[in-house]
Amino acid sequence: MKLSFILNGATVRLDAEPDRRAVDLLREELGALDVKEGCGTGECGACSVLVDGVQKLSCLMLAAQLEGRTVVTAAGLGTAEKPHPVQRAFAEHGAVQCGFCTPGMAVAAAGLLAENPAPAREDIRRAVSGNLCRCTGYVKIIDAVEAAARELAARKGKTEDAR
Ligand code: FES
Ligand code: FES
Repeated sequence: MKLSFILNGATVRLDAEPDRRAVDLLREELGALDVKEGCGTGECGACSVLVDGVQKLSCLMLAAQLEGRTVVTAAGLGTAEKPHPVQRAFAEHGAVQCGFCTPGMAVAAAGLLAENPAPAREDIRRAVSGNLCRCTGYVKIIDAVEAAARELAARKGKTEDAR
């Protein structure tokens, strides 16, 4: 089938087998190697992407389900010059060790903050509970998401003050 969707801000048009897994399409056809595959069975969260702003497991999605959607991977959250607060906070708080879970964690955190800009620690824990990390013990990840929320709040405050 012909597919058209937005990937990290760019329109993508391609022919794809509709029953191909979205994770394979993203990685193998579109070079989105930041989308990781851990378990392939919906257990680890490594393959998380935002689809229309909501965290989804791309190993459980079919290519056809991307049609017309807006997809953001970890690489699309920000740039080296203008990182997303989550990306910056993960680096600054030592929330990245081997890094395998990090793209999925960052996507989960960004999805949470888009929906709930001032989450309690319990909210953060719940939001990343589907993302497994074998390295960090999670505390630094939760600290980083809290810091990202503070940065977003500070940015919002500055924007409002400038009005
Ligand atoms: S690879 Fe998709 S949830 Fe583990
Ligand atoms: S940093 Fe290694 S799995 Fe999370």
